[in-house]
This record gives sequence, C-alpha cells and structure tokens, in this order.
Amino acid sequence: MTTLAPSRQDIQAQVPAEPDTRALSLDGVRFSYPGQSQDTLHISQWALARGERVMLRGPSGCGKSTLLGLAAGVLLPQAGSVRLMGRDWASMGAAARDAQRVDHVGYIFQQFNLLPYLSVLDNVLLPCQFSSRRRNQARETHGHPRLAAVALLEALELPAVLHHRAASDLSVGQQQRVAAARALMGAPEVVIADEPTSALDEDRREGFMRLLLAQCQRAGSALLFVTHDARLSVHFERVVDLPALNETGH
Ligand SMILES: Nc1ncnc2c1ncn2[C@@H]1O[C@H](COP(=O)(O)OP(=O)(O)OP(=O)(O)O)[C@@H](O)[C@H]1O
Ligand SMILES: [Mg+2]
Repeated sequence: MTTLAPSRQDIQAQVPAEPDTRALSLDGVRFSYPGQSQDTLHISQWALARGERVMLRGPSGCGKSTLLGLAAGVLLPQAGSVRLMGRDWASMGAAARDAQRVDHVGYIFQQFNLLPYLSVLDNVLLPCQFSSRRRNQARETHGHPRLAAVALLEALELPAVLHHRAASDLSVGQQQRVAAARALMGAPEVVIADEPTSALDEDRREGFMRLLLAQCQRAGSALLFVTHDARLSVHFERVVDLPALNETGH
C-alpha cells in the first residue's frame, strides 16, 4: 500500500491563517510620478496596526501626501504592494478600489474638500450614500445614518443651527470639523488626515485633536495623521519620520 505524503499546499491549508492585525501594510513599495526619473518613495516595509494612532512627519516635499495617496489607493506603486485591510490595491480594478476606499477609509484632506453646495449634514452623510457597509454601521450604532451624523457633529461641537447650512457658509475651523465628521461617519477602519490642523490657532488645534482622537477610539479606527507640528506628537502612540522610512536618499 502506498501512502501519499501530503503536499505543501495541503499542509498550508491545515494551518489556520494568522488573523491580520494590520490595517495597512506596505512591502517593497516604489513610487514615482509620471516623468520623474527618481523614485519619490521607496519603502521596504511599513505597517499601521488596527486601531493604532500614528503621526507622520517630514519636511515639505518629502512625500507625505504621496504616501497617504498610496495608502488610500488613489495612487498605485510601480513596484511592491500596498494592502488595506488585507487587500492589495493593485489587485483591484478602479471600481473595486473606489468601493474598498469608501467602505474602509475616511480621508480628511488639507483643504477639507467639502461639497460647498450641500448642507453640512448631507456632506457628513456622503460616505453612507456610497457604502452600504458604512450605512449599516451607522444604523447599528444610532438606528439611522442621519442620527449618527448629528451625533458626530455634536461630538465635534458643531452647533445644530449650522447642520442645515451650506458647507461654504462655515468658517475654516467649522468646515474642518465637518470634514472630520464625514471621515468618521460609519466607523471606517482607517482614518487618514493630511495636515488638517494647519489653519487653526493653538486652542482650536488642541480641541480638534481631542475630539478627533476620542471619535477614532470610539469607532476603533486606526489614524494616520500628517502634521509638521511637533507639539501634536503627545497625542500619538508612534511618530514616524518619513525621511527615515524612505530609502530614496531624499
Ligand atoms: N501630481 C504630481 N506630479 C508630479 N510630481 C508630484 C506630484 N505631486 C507631488 N509631486 C512631487 O512629489 C514630491 C512629494 O510630494 P508630496 O506632495 O507627497 O510632499 P509632502 O511631503 O506632502 O509635502 P508638503 O508638506 O508640502 O505637503 C515633491 O517633490 C512633489 O513635487
Ligand atoms: Mg502634503
């Protein structure tokens, strides 16, 4: 009687997969913009754990926003992989990337990118328009997405009288809090923020950080936060200097 030795594949299939505790991981990533002869970024390995709060800093032009673009699947690397919640952005088509992004990523842009003609509340509800996952999350926690949006705006101290105003009528600090509420809506696993506090004075900056961090913690969201401001480092579990991570020699 002959017994067949189990193949490597069979053995691998029997080993339970390690649960992936990483929200974001980069491996062997090289990225350059069209027409550039040198890489803007070359990162051998880097990861953001689920629920982790990381501050990313570095001089102007060192590639911070580029890294955020790669993390959110807006940019694709020429080599290596960028995985968000275990899925490689490059393995997906454009529509699947859009769906993955709106399901799992809340993005606060430096210029907030609110839709000026929509009300504050409708801006905050936008992710739920495009993601059933985030709509369902909001329903689970608050019964209805609109109630979740109001709760977030209240937590971010945006008075109810402003909820029905057009976003363009708000001050910069108020718009920033609306952008944060929109990013947090429906508890995405990863919140990405590109210098959202640069237009604020010190008191408002501290207040905004407290509110943002409390909401991320509540939702269990990891936070990848770009800032030049060294004073904000106290709020983070880890501070990453991008020039130290980047092997391009910039
Ligand atoms: N769309 C683009 N096309 C070509 N080059 C670009 C593009 N966007 C950025 N770059 C270049 O890539 C490099 C990194 O830019 P990036 O915007 O990521 O820097 P940054 O660290 O975010 O800077 P800042 O702190 O000023 O926001 C810079 O040299 C920049 O000129
Ligand atoms: Mg930038």
